[in-house]
Amino acid sequence: MRILGIETSCDETGVAVYDDQSGLLANRLHTQIAMHQAYGGVVPELASRDHVRRLLPLVREALAEAASDPASIDGIAYTAGPGLIGALLVGSSFARGLAAAWSKPVVGVHHLEGHLLAPLLEPDPPAFPFLALLVSGGHTLLVDVAGLGRYQLLGQSLDDAAGEAFDKTAKLLGLPYPGGAALAALASRGRPGAFRFPRPMLDRAGLDFSFSGLKTAVRVALRDRALTDEVRADAAYEFEQAVIDTLGEKCRRALRQSGRSRLIVAGGVGANLGLRTRLAAVAAACGARAHFPRPEFCTDNGAMIALAGCLRLASGAGGAPVAARANWPLGAAVATGT
Ligand code: KG4
Ligand code: ZN
Repeated sequence: MRILGIETSCDETGVAVYDDQSGLLANRLHTQIAMHQAYGGVVPELASRDHVRRLLPLVREALAEAASDPASIDGIAYTAGPGLIGALLVGSSFARGLAAAWSKPVVGVHHLEGHLLAPLLEPDPPAFPFLALLVSGGHTLLVDVAGLGRYQLLGQSLDDAAGEAFDKTAKLLGLPYPGGAALAALASRGRPGAFRFPRPMLDRAGLDFSFSGLKTAVRVALRDRALTDEVRADAAYEFEQAVIDTLGEKCRRALRQSGRSRLIVAGGVGANLGLRTRLAAVAAACGARAHFPRPEFCTDNGAMIALAGCLRLASGAGGAPVAARANWPLGAAVATGT
């Protein structure tokens, strides 16, 4: 089965071709980061318009890279939600129109399911069941993944997502949007002990997260300080450590509680090297193994949508019940597969 995957939920246009026998045949991405940078965040209307411009050329490129023509494509998968509704509707309309023109099945994929399954794109993929930490710009979730579409939410952020906290703190430190990777680079020059920020929610039982207080702690600590390079690097270091400590401890608890022997880490913040090192150690200490997608499969991409669509079509599970949905909790809608 060979699937064309289309991702347009936010500021990345991703198109890929995945084949259940040969694996990933093509993966094309256009990122709009430079376009949104001037505004310090994603401007939804600009995002939608850019997806319109990029989709067709990217599909042509992906088909050429995969040496595939429409006849060799068995289905089309697209991100149906959650995300920016205008951006989602561009991908959804495009995918559904193409599927009608080519007389192919079409499947709407949950964006977070795409992230959860991204580690399966790697050699030596983890088998079900596994525990998943999903840390992106919009979400921070701990999910028990029993199988395709069988997701149980164990914990989530009560306020800012981990990536959002990285981006907001990066802004305080004078870094451009999105600041996660830049903050991590700055942190590598920071000194331990110069600042002390809280480790949110570690004093409480449970697997939920909260990151907005951490960002506020950084703001308060920097209020009357001259923002020299040294001070910025020290604050970045301590912020990153606080996030890593918090995510590491919650994953340790979740592994112990669930008894799962595999931890997968997905979403943009999963590209963070310090976090990867910590989670690999946490998993090992729990007798488990951590799996990470390569960095380009941590952030938004078409490959994870093509893979998720392929698994859904192959297993007979349906996709999204509607064409596009801005708010769509990972849970019952995905678990039942309609
Ligand atoms: O998964 P993603 O591409 O988009 C969403 O679906 O939200 O994640 C983007 C997020 C941004 O907040 C970005 O700052 C963060 O991932 N990020 C990082 C790193 N690379 C990207 N955060 C920390 N360290 C990194 N190396
Ligand atoms: Zn994402």
